[in-house]
Amino acid sequence: MSIEAAHHGAIPAAAQELIHPAWVRLTHWINFIAVAVMIGSGWEIYNASPLFPFVFPRAITLGGWLAGALLWHFAAMWVLAVNGMVYLMLGFATGRFRKKLVPIRPREVLADLKAALTGSLSHADLSVYNAVQRLLYLGVILAGIVVVLSGIAIWKPVQLQELTALLGGYDAARYVHFLGMATIVGFLAIHAIMAILVPRSLRAMIVGR
Ligand code: HEM
Ligand code: HEM
Repeated sequence: MSIEAAHHGAIPAAAQELIHPAWVRLTHWINFIAVAVMIGSGWEIYNASPLFPFVFPRAITLGGWLAGALLWHFAAMWVLAVNGMVYLMLGFATGRFRKKLVPIRPREVLADLKAALTGSLSHADLSVYNAVQRLLYLGVILAGIVVVLSGIAIWKPVQLQELTALLGGYDAARYVHFLGMATIVGFLAIHAIMAILVPRSLRAMIVGR
């Protein structure tokens, strides 16, 4: 928006306010790329030694074969971990988490969920997350922490025995890691549908307002 337009008041005040600061948008989209690589390569790693009686179709896995997938996984994990740490530190330091993600009251979650399912949930003010959003965002942040910790535990099970033991041993840590992945994939399905249903929110996560 030009300064000119601001002076003439052509755009309502609300539209000028920043909804997502640059650091949120930047870390969000870097995270998206890193998570996509981690899921694609993780599925290929899984296929080499499946935990459940199914494998992921080759067409949607990354890396071509086990060794290739492991290279992708170990490359993108640094991007994921560093970017995630920056997001968490700034989220705490700026008070964003405190302002936007809490409190989460069960009664409000139920009310907002009902409103969402009946199509009567308001998306007028994108700077305030409803109770369902808060729960989902906090949940996916926690799932991210679990998947990183369990990933580190199965990456260095000997050097980090205590961490691996804390998760119930190597085999249990693999299941924890898989469960974390599945939680994130489930979140993503809902999250992507909501971004398409409320395109203004997607715009705000890209340009900030
Ligand atoms: C710092 C982060 C991470 C580290 C260090 C890490 C490490 C690893 C390692 C070492 C394996 C191989 C396990 C095995 O040999 O069976 C693995 C498998 C896997 N990873 Fe990760 N990972 C990380 C993050 C992620 C993320 C973010 C996702 C997806 C959201 C993911 C999804 C998977 C999947 C699906 C598998 C295959 C599961 C299995 O069969 O055990 N990982 N990861
Ligand atoms: C298809 C890819 C994605 C799209 C289109 C997308 C879109 C969006 C949008 C539009 C918002 C703003 C929230 C709103 O106003 O409703 C948002 C926030 C958020 N997204 Fe995503 N996202 C994607 C991938 C991801 C992934 C992979 C994760 C994590 C694994 C993630 C985690 C979050 C979190 C935690 C927030 C809240 C951020 C904050 O306010 O600090 N998103 N996303």
